Amino acid sequence: MAEPDFEALFAAAVAVQPLAHAPYSRFNVGAAILAEDGTVHVGCNVENAAYPSGSCAEQGAISAMIASGAKTIRAVLVFGEGEALVTPCGACRQRIREFAAPETPIAIAGPGGIRARFSLAELLPASFGPDNLRR
Ligand code: THU
Repeated sequence: MAEPDFEALFAAAVAVQPLAHAPYSRFNVGAAILAEDGTVHVGCNVENAAYPSGSCAEQGAISAMIASGAKTIRAVLVFGEGEALVTPCGACRQRIREFAAPETPIAIAGPGGIRARFSLAELLPASFGPDNLRR
């Protein structure tokens, strides 16, 4: 399969990151997903005064992909600032797992570009997924 267009995913995540609603953490995150049909879907974090009701950028991008009719994630790119890599939280790794393969690439980017690249299996080894429920 052709290498995903990470430059397009980077541009999409950079564009959505400033739109995040993050008045509590002041930590804006943008995520872009390439779906199997070639479409790109974006999301940003949306915090809430009732803190646990906030949602992650990856969550928003997955919702947008599903609402478009696509079902398979071919690549993910997460964009955020700061010294530490902005890797998806545990819950978002599981959310990605629902629609991605173990080898699906997840790129982590900052203002300087892509900083690291992992496979889903590296971020979520020995995972539980839809196959576990097929008996
Ligand atoms: N956040 C994301 O949206 N995605 C990540 O990959 C890491 C963290 C958000 C959640 C929260 O709104 C803020 O960043 C600080 O944790």
